Amino acid sequence: MKHFPSHLLAVAAFAAAAPSAHAQGDPAAGKQLYAARCSGCHSVEYNGVGPTHKNLVGRRAGTAQGYTYSNALKNSTVIWGPDTLSRWLTDPEKFIPGQKMFVSVPDAKERADIVAYLLQAGRPQQSTPRQPGE
Ligand code: HEC
Repeated sequence: MKHFPSHLLAVAAFAAAAPSAHAQGDPAAGKQLYAARCSGCHSVEYNGVGPTHKNLVGRRAGTAQGYTYSNALKNSTVIWGPDTLSRWLTDPEKFIPGQKMFVSVPDAKERADIVAYLLQAGRPQQSTPRQPGE
């Protein structure tokens, strides 16, 4: 009997083990939703009616430089990340009472898409590299 070349089997096994796409929010769809629903007041470059989303991820709520926040946001200790952004967009007034953004994203899929976009577009631009095991 002929031997089947073992390196071909190895290649086949590797292809089958390739990671599947993440079933979370879709940042490309989120970018379009952001343009339609958020960009009237927000930008990932500058402050407008709302604070800029530049360097949003990991930032404390109410701390974009040069923007005049409500006291509620200024005094909040919330740190923006996937979970807090999702809760904010579900119902800002419930999450941080006394705030002044009267827009929400009740649809879970749309919210996940917008958060996925913000995690990319609003990630810190000068991040300090982490040491392995830190
Ligand atoms: C009508 C204007 C308006 C729209 C539209 C709007 N926002 Fe806001 N947003 C604001 C204002 C005003 C604040 C500041 C709230 C405060 O100071 O209480 C804010 C604050 C925020 C913050 C907190 C930022 C920080 O620096 O702490 C996030 C995050 C945010 N908005 C996300 C969004 C997203 C995502 C959308 C689109 C789904 C959106 N906003 C749509 C006006 C708006």
